Amino acid sequence: MSKFIRINNKINNFNKIITVSGDKSLSIRWVLFSSMALGKSKAYNLLLSEDVLAAFDAVKKLGVKVKLAKNYCTVIGNGLKGYKYKKNIIINSKNSGTLARLIMGILIDTPYKIKIIGDKSLSKRDFHRIAEPLSKFGAKIKLTKKSLPLTILGNKNLHPIKYLENRGSAQCKSSVILAGLKTDGKTFIKAKKSRNHTELLCKHLDLPIKIKKSKNYDLIEIQKANKIKPLNYRIPSDISSGSFFIVLVALLDNSKLQIKNVNINSSRIGVITILKKMGVNIKFQNKRNYKGETTADIFVNSSKKLKAINCPSELNSGAIDEFLIIFLVAAKANGVSYFKDISELNEKESPRLKWGSKILNKMGIETVTTNSSIKIFGNPNLKISKKIIIKEYLKDHRIFMASVIAALAFGGTWEIYDKDSVKTSFPSFLDIVNDLKTSV
Ligand code: S3P
Repeated sequence: MSKFIRINNKINNFNKIITVSGDKSLSIRWVLFSSMALGKSKAYNLLLSEDVLAAFDAVKKLGVKVKLAKNYCTVIGNGLKGYKYKKNIIINSKNSGTLARLIMGILIDTPYKIKIIGDKSLSKRDFHRIAEPLSKFGAKIKLTKKSLPLTILGNKNLHPIKYLENRGSAQCKSSVILAGLKTDGKTFIKAKKSRNHTELLCKHLDLPIKIKKSKNYDLIEIQKANKIKPLNYRIPSDISSGSFFIVLVALLDNSKLQIKNVNINSSRIGVITILKKMGVNIKFQNKRNYKGETTADIFVNSSKKLKAINCPSELNSGAIDEFLIIFLVAAKANGVSYFKDISELNEKESPRLKWGSKILNKMGIETVTTNSSIKIFGNPNLKISKKIIIKEYLKDHRIFMASVIAALAFGGTWEIYDKDSVKTSFPSFLDIVNDLKTSV
């Protein structure tokens, strides 16, 4: 039976300083870019979660040397054409959509057929969205019912494409950028705003990328790269991980938290903008620029009154991984909150819009949910006294962690299954919870 955690006590108020683990998007991108670089790249504070370890395994399969030392990791790349592997290799992307989709862009020129597989959750996700543009470059991609397992066979004569990315998917955008780096001629992408770590890394590495920004879309032009320089990087902490604890403070009385050195890239802080609109006290201090990214220490205080929100759709992509916990704030807010144009939530590790609504209903909160929106009828006096069981949610790490935050904030007796799911993105999550539990 899968391991579960039982929580039957609300957490006491606290005043703490914490550090959360390294950014997952940046960690996976560091492994992939370094694997194509010529020479040795070194990273500190890399997130050593299952998604990132799967990225290490993937590049090792492609003949790249990696080393995981105590305080740092190294990757020794052999250049853009330096992968060395036999026929019929299989890359197991496990739970990671980012790894599977980005590596497909990199494998656009693979001379041998490569099979990409994943776990049960990843094998239910949509890969047609990325197979389609990559096939236009000239690669041959075969999917199993629009998903994994898939095979990819590259092409020596790739041609550049014009691609409209309309969902706000950074994974699709990034995959096409990576394919563009291997293709003669100019690849053009018109991409709905989404996290821009790949573009910032390309700029930092002096790769041939041009970006024009407009309100809702970016126009990206990418050309073939001759070589990629090694990438030494100190990964900042992940705002998506920090947000679980920001929300916990927002839901408690008389608590304070400082989270050190978090990546506050403007394409990632939709959650902060939304929470501030809902009345949460959040401040950034010690803002710094790091290789094109912005980092800061985050300060959050309990708020006296949480307000409902009619959430503007422009904020969706910057908060895409945080909606489950934003819904918890809406559950305690005064009034009816409305989130729209969020059908992408059902494309994640589990159908998160459905699950978000299900968890709120179990908590006694009324919702009206469609395929792309949710209305949440908040209750500022919400206190739970019944038993709530959360299981069979495709081991979605964010469902597990959001449920733990709800249990700690609202009380009741919770049994939350698949606690190992935190290993996907935030292995120290429960250690931080225990640390906060034992402090005042
Ligand atoms: C990610 C992009 C987002 C996000 C995921 C990480 C990335 O996915 O949900 O957790 O690192 O590019 P989509 O591109 O599918 O929106």
